[in-house]
Amino acid sequence: MMQNRIKTVGAILLAGSFFLATNSIAAEAYDEETYGPEAPIAWDKPTKVTFSHKVHTMDSGLACDSCHDELFTMESGAILATGTMTMAAMAEGKSCGSCHDGNTAFASNTKCASCHMDVKELTPEDPIVWTKPVKAVIFYHKAHIEDFGLDCAACHEGTFAMETGSAIKAGDFTMQSLYDGKYCGTCHDGSTAFDSDTRCNSCHIGVKGYNRMMGNDGVHGKSPQETKAGH
Ligand code: HEC
Ligand code: HEC
Ligand code: HEC
Ligand code: HEC
Ligand code: HEC
Ligand code: HEC
Repeated sequence: MMQNRIKTVGAILLAGSFFLATNSIAAEAYDEETYGPEAPIAWDKPTKVTFSHKVHTMDSGLACDSCHDELFTMESGAILATGTMTMAAMAEGKSCGSCHDGNTAFASNTKCASCHMDVKELTPEDPIVWTKPVKAVIFYHKAHIEDFGLDCAACHEGTFAMETGSAIKAGDFTMQSLYDGKYCGTCHDGSTAFDSDTRCNSCHIGVKGYNRMMGNDGVHGKSPQETKAGH
């Protein structure tokens, strides 16, 4: 009798600890019915981007209907076919941008690397050329990133917006600003990189250099870029 009771208690204890063990496994396990697909959704066109259901449902507490089916259908890749999943559309509050607006969640024009798996992929291929007020100043992303080992934040956290033309619009994109340590001058100060008051021709390729780059001799009509930009 006594032995039996001990056995029973043992069995209950065993069953209890087994129950606890399975229960804690269940708590750690990701439940797809409650939180949506466990595997991240990945898009690879035009760039590599991932989306995690876990971050949005389990961690941030969003319900399925905050995205389905008004913003996204439950079919991985379907949104790409609509052509509405672009950075420009997001900036207008569409797709991811309906929350990633700097209010509900971090803005879509910040923290590129949190959505994009390969940030280098976002680097503009072509050099940036400024033609105002003087023609022409040139900047190569490729050289600054690959040869000089700078990351995006070195320039895009406070020094330059990620939008060609922003510095010009600010109205103080001048040599004086560079000498004062702004814009290119944050590095081109004779210490981190060659001084802005030297080697003028490294940055200023001039009208001739510009025309050569555009494959135009500058005599017969406008360069392709100017024609395109409508100047
Ligand atoms: C923050 C937005 C968001 C929330 C919240 C969300 N989803 Fe999704 N879901 C997406 C996106 C984005 C896709 C991919 C759509 C595309 O590529 O067109 C997707 C795709 C899916 C798919 C298709 C997966 C596949 O491989 O084809 C299923 C199933 C799904 N979601 C279920 C859920 C369930 C269930 C919930 C709630 C528990 C949920 N989702 C909550 C954004 C969300
Ligand atoms: C909230 C997520 C998110 C953030 C943050 C984000 N992107 Fe995107 N981006 C996407 C998605 C989604 C796409 C479209 C799908 C794809 O390319 O696979 C995309 C596409 C792009 C494209 C392709 C063409 C276009 O304009 O749509 C470029 C270029 C791009 N992003 C640049 C950037 C840069 C630069 C940043 C940071 C300033 C950034 N993105 C931040 C999600 C994001
Ligand atoms: C319904 C609102 C909503 C939509 C739509 C939405 N997000 Fe989010 N997202 C959030 C919230 C809320 C957070 C957490 C707060 C934050 O990080 O700002 C978040 C966080 C994230 C994070 C940060 C993950 C981490 O590890 O910190 C990424 C990356 C992300 N979202 C990508 C996307 C992409 C890509 C899309 C579009 C396919 C998208 N989100 C659509 C609300 C949304
Ligand atoms: C050494 C400085 C520097 C570094 C490093 C740098 N950029 Fe830039 N980037 C610029 C400048 C300058 C502009 C033009 C800004 C302006 O005209 O106001 C620019 C513009 C851009 C633009 C806008 C292009 C367009 O057509 O509007 C994108 C996108 C961009 N950068 C992405 C990146 C990414 C991604 C990285 C990191 C992989 C990066 N940049 C690293 C200096 C830099
Ligand atoms: C975050 C730092 C940083 C910023 C900002 C920066 N540069 Fe540079 N730049 C460098 C470094 C480092 C080098 C290589 C060292 C050197 O040549 O002194 C370099 C080299 C160059 C070169 C020579 C490259 C070659 O291939 O000969 C040019 C031209 C140049 N930068 C133009 C610019 C212009 C124009 C701007 C502003 C639009 C700018 N840089 C902004 C760091 C920077
Ligand atoms: C590190 C790159 C860099 C170097 C080096 C540089 N410049 Fe500039 N310069 C710029 C940028 C960027 C602008 C503004 C954009 C534009 O005018 O197209 C500019 C604008 C100018 C302007 C018109 C605006 C103003 O400030 O009056 C003059 C004139 C000028 N530079 C002369 C020079 C001379 C002379 C040198 C050599 C002593 C020189 N620059 C060296 C990048 C550089």
